[in-house]
Amino acid sequence: MSLLPEWAPNLHPLVLHFPIALLFVAAAFDAVGLFSGDRGGWRKSANWLYALGAVTAVITWYSGTLAADSVFLPTEANALLTEHADLGLWTAWFFGGYAVIRMGINATKLGAGGMARIGFFVIGLAGLGLITVTATHGAELVYRYGVGVEAVETAPSEPLVQAEAGEDGIAVSPAGWSWAPARAAAWKTSAIWVEGSAESLTSSLVDGGDRGDVFQLEVTEPTLFVLPGQIDRLQVDLALDPTDFDGSVLVAHHVQEDGSYGFTSLANDVIRLGRTENSDLLVQATEAMAGSGWRDIRVVVDGTHFRSYVDTQLLVHGHGAAFEPGQVGLRLNGTGVVRLAGMQAVDLGVVAGGSSDDSSDSGEEMDMPMDSEADDHDHEEPNG
Ligand code: HEM
Repeated sequence: MSLLPEWAPNLHPLVLHFPIALLFVAAAFDAVGLFSGDRGGWRKSANWLYALGAVTAVITWYSGTLAADSVFLPTEANALLTEHADLGLWTAWFFGGYAVIRMGINATKLGAGGMARIGFFVIGLAGLGLITVTATHGAELVYRYGVGVEAVETAPSEPLVQAEAGEDGIAVSPAGWSWAPARAAAWKTSAIWVEGSAESLTSSLVDGGDRGDVFQLEVTEPTLFVLPGQIDRLQVDLALDPTDFDGSVLVAHHVQEDGSYGFTSLANDVIRLGRTENSDLLVQATEAMAGSGWRDIRVVVDGTHFRSYVDTQLLVHGHGAAFEPGQVGLRLNGTGVVRLAGMQAVDLGVVAGGSSDDSSDSGEEMDMPMDSEADDHDHEEPNG
């Protein structure tokens, strides 16, 4: 049985931070000892830190040799790995020798004079230069060439909601629901209208070009509809084109029976994140949004963390009191046409293999007023 976590490519990334941290702290202790005129404590501590740093550098070197045998490299990265491996070997030798000499001097009291101490300090700094170059090469292997890492999937290889869609185009499973264009308006009978009614919009299927058949929703008055199912820690994905819509499109989540909800809204090249409070919309973060046409929107609301992405770019990010589990839907606040290629809402607790009840919320944060990275609080009327 392997003791390595299943996501780790090998032992190397788990151990390599030890020599880097220990050796830098060792040099800092040495510097304090040197410049403060201290004759003992700081320098002795530095010796031990250098010794520990050297031992972990040797372990790191060895783990690196095993790592190199366990990964497949893109052609361009081969030369870089060779350099990194050579530098790693020199680093291990350098600090191994340096630590032995320092411990020897400490034991024999030889060479402990002022000039010798400055000389040792400078040699230690040169070693830090060596380990920095080694580590930078290693980081380039990972961050430039992706060695040992798995690419982030922007689209899951398997559908998250693994269930057959009904005639209404809606598939429901414990992981959440997905809604794809199937028949023009069959979905309306499954939707729950929180504001307005099924007559507030006309739904038809049209050719969406690359997007295939898409819904065309012609809106005549503000409406908010949700699909059934309570979701707590959620991710909502949808593809929509609001070009011909005059107003704002809100992805409404955690919709409660009293009509309150959280939202991410898109209107006039602006994306907002917020929630309803006492029938006001409290806007928590606002960002400009470039471009037009079809948008792939992702909204993640996990406990006290709220993130909204457009075309895989994180545009708004905020924190605030966690929501009660609720339903997910769309609020169309304006008039005109919104095209929708599909939508899904998944429960992150279920998709991640845990329980949707074990939210990351802490009671401490539950009562906190909302705060945001954008530090941008506006109050608006619901239909404003
Ligand atoms: C003291 C010696 C060494 C240090 C300080 C060091 C440091 C690093 C660092 C900082 C990374 C990037 C990790 C990340 O950002 O996640 C890395 C990656 C890597 N290093 Fe080293 N390294 C050392 C020795 C070696 C040796 C000797 C080899 C091969 C013979 C090696 C092979 C690799 C490989 C293959 C990776 C890519 C990630 C992986 O598969 O683990 N390293 N190293």
